[in-house]
Amino acid sequence: MHDSLDLTSLLSGLSQDCCRLFHGRGGFHPRFAHVAIDWFAPVILITFYQDCSQNETLQRDIIHLASLHDHIKTVVVQDRYLPQSPKRVVFGQLPQEPIALENGLKYHLSLKENQNHGFFLDMSSGRRWVQNHSSCKRVLNLFAYTCSLSVAALAGEAKSVINLDMSRQALAVGKENHLLNFTPATCQRVSYLGHNLFKTWGRLKREGPFDLIIIDPPSRQPGSFVAEKDYARIVRRLPELSHPKTQIMACLNSPYLGASFLHHLFEDYQLVTTLDPARGFADKEPERGLKSMIFEQV
Ligand SMILES: C[S@@+](CC[C@H](N)C(=O)[O-])C[C@H]1O[C@@H](n2cnc3c(N)ncnc32)[C@H](O)[C@@H]1O
Repeated sequence: MHDSLDLTSLLSGLSQDCCRLFHGRGGFHPRFAHVAIDWFAPVILITFYQDCSQNETLQRDIIHLASLHDHIKTVVVQDRYLPQSPKRVVFGQLPQEPIALENGLKYHLSLKENQNHGFFLDMSSGRRWVQNHSSCKRVLNLFAYTCSLSVAALAGEAKSVINLDMSRQALAVGKENHLLNFTPATCQRVSYLGHNLFKTWGRLKREGPFDLIIIDPPSRQPGSFVAEKDYARIVRRLPELSHPKTQIMACLNSPYLGASFLHHLFEDYQLVTTLDPARGFADKEPERGLKSMIFEQV
């Protein structure tokens, strides 16, 4: 057992819904600041962001508890500090088709390879908001990745969704994510643009105006998007894609840029609401985590 991590209570009472069980980066347990523990039933995913002496003991204790709990079939460890961030199965076997279940919706997970497993748990408040505010709307999902926000929009009866991301591989998973949840006829309301946003304005303008525009970029992806200089370029283009009632969901996940960065970018807009952090992502310094805000024109 660990003095400061109560693994027994962390791993008991798990439901089928995925969630973050332990968020070391939140800063409440300094000894474990380099650890994240996620639940994707029936899999526990442990992520180590640093090679530390306590990693082995923590892993061993989680495997021991997993062996006592029928609902935990597999434990996977990802070493994010190593090149390529390899994952390894340390207990049980990977399910044939690992799935993240959230709010009744399913998403494909990649637990074998790839640095990211294809589903961002910290966006759960965003997905919930989008599902509750998409009815009959034309939605533009920028930086769509595997389209989880599009799945949420369609579940919320969106009229149409356009997903844009320069990674066609991620969009291909996104397409599968829709097919996992909806009939082929419903999936017809969704389209995919595998392009660099900054070379696609003309096409987007022709498709608009949109009722809801989601902006969830990386904080820094050199050559593709750097928030400090590129976020403002998107905000400048918004009037071409919107009408007076369009809602904008603006997100930013950077430890270095706080909420004021978004407030400043959207100073000509009205803030409708700021979304709460996702369950399990409490942070001693909330400004460092994911920020999601809804704006409208004044
Ligand atoms: C933070 S992820 C988006 C997560 C997604 N919204 C979700 O909820 O799962 C950022 C995505 O931005 C994409 N991206 C980065 N720069 C881009 C650009 N200039 N144009 C289009 N996509 C870009 C990356 O390929 C990546 O999939």
